[in-house]
Amino acid sequence: MTITAFAPGRVNLIGDHTDYTGGLALPMAIGLGVEVTGDRSTNWVILTSTALDGIAELPLDVSDAAAVSPSWARYVAGVVAELRPDDGLSGTVDSSLPQGRGLSSSAALEIAVALALGAGSLGPEELAELGRRAEHRAVGVPCGIMDQLTITSAVSGSALRLDCRSLSVDPVPLPLGVDVVVADSGESRALARSPYATRVAECARAEAELGPLRDASPRDAEGLADPVLRRRARHVTTENGRVDALVAAFREGDLRHAGELMVASHASLRDDYEASSPALDELVSQLRGTPGIYGARLTGAGWGGCAVALVDASADLPHDLPIIWRGAPAGPAHVTMS
Ligand code: GLA
Repeated sequence: MTITAFAPGRVNLIGDHTDYTGGLALPMAIGLGVEVTGDRSTNWVILTSTALDGIAELPLDVSDAAAVSPSWARYVAGVVAELRPDDGLSGTVDSSLPQGRGLSSSAALEIAVALALGAGSLGPEELAELGRRAEHRAVGVPCGIMDQLTITSAVSGSALRLDCRSLSVDPVPLPLGVDVVVADSGESRALARSPYATRVAECARAEAELGPLRDASPRDAEGLADPVLRRRARHVTTENGRVDALVAAFREGDLRHAGELMVASHASLRDDYEASSPALDELVSQLRGTPGIYGARLTGAGWGGCAVALVDASADLPHDLPIIWRGAPAGPAHVTMS
């Protein structure tokens, strides 16, 4: 019996660096992803990758996922350590997602491996939590739940309003006549070597003074004495507001305002959260200046990676834009057996 598990990547339309303080986000799955194919008649996990070097060769009782090599195998090991499957998996990993570009290639690998190893009976929330724990084990990054929850809960044609405190997921259909565009700055970054963990710690320090940032207003944020923490908290509190403003703009079909909100989000991530890069700023302004595009912003953690834009579905975009995907929201991760 051959098992094939597919997990899509995700792009976040708005609401970045809000999930780890229980905030709001509006991501969606895209049509690029990770496929794991194999059979279970083995008591090891042995996976080769069509894109990455080395073999993931792991016993079912692997414990220290972070010590495994090659480095991509750490995510596989993290899943094995969380799931403790009775049977192994021998097969291949194939990916159409670029690595380290803010499209959740690691979360897609975790969820596809988990499904191939028999986690299909878990609900979307449980499966997402398992993926997040696997990521923590693999690379020690204190990431939030957005990536994994989007991949397990995606709804074709809709973005997802995620409440990262209650973990509720509300599908928000995209207005007719609009496409989502993902453009690649060409700059890679590994979360583990980025200021991500520093930002998580800065938010925790702001919360020690203000209480949960989810319950704080932008005005509360201004009361913080430390100028760095004030800017971080200003980003998080205003970004939570922009998520619901974008949901409302989509419901009203007001794409001009939707674009403005994305641009404001980019400025907040660049100036208050210091999560952009010169290449990303340049790409976002190039996208914004393109006829047919309503708005653009960096997406995911930042410090390199991709930008996301909303574009009139009838617009032809210039060929010199580094577009790697264009379309409507895709469906969730899934597994098939043959
Ligand atoms: C990464 C993390 C997510 C989230 C984003 C920023 O993708 O894995 O949990 O924090 O950055 O919004």
